[in-house]
Amino acid sequence: MADFVGAVDQGTTSTRFMIFDHGGNEVAKHQLEHAQILPRPGWVEHDPVEIWERTNSVIQNALRHGNLAPEDLAAIGITNQRETTVVWDPRSGRPYYNAIVWQDTRTDAIAAALERSGRGEVIRRKAGLPPATYFSGGKIQWILENVDGVREAAEQGHALFGNTDCWVLWNLTGGPDGGVHATDVTNASRTMLMNLETLDWDDELLGFFGVPRAMLPTINASSHPEAYGTTRTSRPLRAAVPITGVLGDQQAATVGQVCFAPGEAKNTYGTGNFLVLNTGTELVRSQHGLLTTVAYRFGDSPAVYALEGSIAVTGSAVQWLRDQMKIITNAAESERLASAVEDNGGMYFVPAFSGLFAPYWRSDARGAIVGLARYHTNEHLARATLEAICYQSRDVVEAMEQDSGVHLDVLKVDGGVTANDLCMQIQADVLGVPVSRPVVAETTALGAAYAAGLATGFWRDGDELRTHWQESKRWEPQWSEDRRAEGYAGWKKAVERTLDWATVD
Ligand SMILES: Nc1ncnc2c1ncn2[C@@H]1O[C@H](COP(=O)(O)OP(=O)(O)OP(=O)(O)O)[C@@H](O)[C@H]1O
Ligand SMILES: [Mg+2]
Repeated sequence: MADFVGAVDQGTTSTRFMIFDHGGNEVAKHQLEHAQILPRPGWVEHDPVEIWERTNSVIQNALRHGNLAPEDLAAIGITNQRETTVVWDPRSGRPYYNAIVWQDTRTDAIAAALERSGRGEVIRRKAGLPPATYFSGGKIQWILENVDGVREAAEQGHALFGNTDCWVLWNLTGGPDGGVHATDVTNASRTMLMNLETLDWDDELLGFFGVPRAMLPTINASSHPEAYGTTRTSRPLRAAVPITGVLGDQQAATVGQVCFAPGEAKNTYGTGNFLVLNTGTELVRSQHGLLTTVAYRFGDSPAVYALEGSIAVTGSAVQWLRDQMKIITNAAESERLASAVEDNGGMYFVPAFSGLFAPYWRSDARGAIVGLARYHTNEHLARATLEAICYQSRDVVEAMEQDSGVHLDVLKVDGGVTANDLCMQIQADVLGVPVSRPVVAETTALGAAYAAGLATGFWRDGDELRTHWQESKRWEPQWSEDRRAEGYAGWKKAVERTLDWATVD
């Protein structure tokens, strides 16, 4: 009897496999990191072969930890770091180049040229995205133009593109031996190549990037009983388990947080931060620097859209304190250090390492620490880092309220940084709104499992999933209105100081 659903969460820093029961409770998991390859300033790559090997290991180990057989899995979902671009040869299964990661800024000249030529407006209108280094389109173009032989191969159908969902799916379903080359609407909505209204690749957009249609995967619903095939018996599972859900990680977290009604939102605090607001079947175009994207599409139901505020650097700023500044030895220590001071003492840290994403979209910004006085210590820097996570979130919450008219009564949060109590308290203080975290903090994997389980009838519908959601912790705002206003005004001034720093050719 198959009593469980599994989910592969192929993230930026690690790959997880998690197994859930009917109640949405975690039964087993395993997680492994992969190498971050940083060949030049601004370049970030992953080795797709390493990612596939890690995927194999975490599936096998999680099953072993849970004392389960592949036959115990009714279905599998896949969720992934979005935008990260893999191009491979379907004959050998070998990548032509490392995966170019979403944070990578090497395509800044491509993005700037699109804006100059007026094509940026077309991309905004059709794809719901501003031209930026963040999305897959420019990354595919870069590989086609810079890696020998790939363009010819692509035109002959010998080069396939996929984000890491697609790469993992193709390998799980047989690889060179009949692997399924497909993705879902949420991943496709992050490429600058999909038309948000038709939910298909758009010839005009493909032309902007010179991407041949032959290299692109089929776009399916995020939850579908047949579209993604089944695992091959020769592959790590040694059994045929249907793969029935695929969703980008932030959309998966939106599903895991059961944000199924228009006006419901969640904020995930991981490597970066991603606030996603469900806007229903209506496409809302942002006037305030948010992205319009697909939240999910279940089966034959119409697509549900979302507004998203993407922040590049939040949890990774804490990693920077650990690995580069070496003022802490693990992420949790940031809380202890920051707790030693009452406030930031006037110091602000804007971690614009990859420029600024939402709501600014300034690739010419670079990080800055401002307001320094002789008085400041490591403790203030730790505090300013946690505050930066929260102030950046306030920037996108404000943009979201202006775009949608939705005022949040409570902010639903999840992700690694939410283990930091002080940071979550600061978040409530900075926003003036309570912050609430659910029992299952791994909402990304849970959402992928939900998408997979809904397709096979393992779960009936969204209402059933809503009954699983339980609050584990809530933080209430404590700052006065004056302190809140003063703190935020300082942040806005600090952001100004980071702009117009890097030159983009
Ligand atoms: N106690 C803590 N305080 C502050 N930051 C923390 C704490 N614990 C973890 N983090 C940060 O959380 C991040 C990891 O969170 P999470 O595992 O949700 O990441 P993720 O974005 O899902 O990873 P991936 O990108 O691989 O999917 C790291 O950047 C880490 O610095
Ligand atoms: Mg993640």
